[in-house]
Amino acid sequence: MATIIDGKKISGEIRNEIKAGVDELVAGGHRPPGLAVLLVGENPASMAYVRSKTRACAEVGFHSRQINRPASISEEGLLRLVQECNDDPEIHGILVQLPLPEHIDSQKIIEAIDPAKDVDGFHPVNAGRLMVGLPGFVPCTPAGIIEMLVRTGTETSGKHAVVLGRSNIVGKPIAQLLARKGRGGDCTVTIAHSRTRNIEEICQQADIIIAAIGRARFVKGSMIKPGAVIIDVGINRVEDENSEKGYRLVGDVDFDEAEKVAGAITPVPGGVGPMTIALLLRNTLESARASSGLPSSLR
Ligand code: GUN
Repeated sequence: MATIIDGKKISGEIRNEIKAGVDELVAGGHRPPGLAVLLVGENPASMAYVRSKTRACAEVGFHSRQINRPASISEEGLLRLVQECNDDPEIHGILVQLPLPEHIDSQKIIEAIDPAKDVDGFHPVNAGRLMVGLPGFVPCTPAGIIEMLVRTGTETSGKHAVVLGRSNIVGKPIAQLLARKGRGGDCTVTIAHSRTRNIEEICQQADIIIAAIGRARFVKGSMIKPGAVIIDVGINRVEDENSEKGYRLVGDVDFDEAEKVAGAITPVPGGVGPMTIALLLRNTLESARASSGLPSSLR
């Protein structure tokens, strides 16, 4: 049976490191890190994520501001809010929760965020920095996955990593990180997606699978090489009449099948999710340090 990679535990360690970082910053006479979270509309999943993010901020001693607006807000209105956060010295990180309503051009909003406060790492300046190997903000979920691999002592060098999904939030950046030189990198990377042929065969060749395609239980046990490391990024609601809510959350991996074949696997929930939040906090702490003229605290 596979080892379960405990994202709650690893993210707890990171949050403790961040708490210590905040204490050090404040003891040095600097402002605590400040995160602004902008939520448009009432998408239940987005509301739940935003709640977790603001709670996590409070726990590590950040200043946080949750800005909620109705789905009817105009694009100009939202751009103005972003600009106010760009100009606010108490705010070091700005997160606009996605998806946004259809009448708002998400890319335009992302590009309005000051790249120095873009703790989601979605601005083309930060995406470009990642591409060419310059320091910058790395998207939180991919950064959290690398941190999980490193902190569990998973060897990545020379391994074949198959990334399922090609989104800007997960697929593309995690592929970049796995292929780059150094710790948690040096993989041979295949990006597979909805148009990939023979996806089963490709998965069977993977030493590491990153599943981020948004399809419930897509990765079956038969697609996994014995001993492979499986990172499940999916959060899908499936009907469950035994649950009070009428649904439950499952990943992009068929966990019950996969744990019989894999060497290690992340659960859903309690795997990648808490890591994403921890890395958001770390990006925000780094932004606050930079704005105080302090060097990066990352190794
Ligand atoms: N929606 C789903 N994941 C994310 C994320 O990491 N950041 C933002 N801003 N929105 C999201």
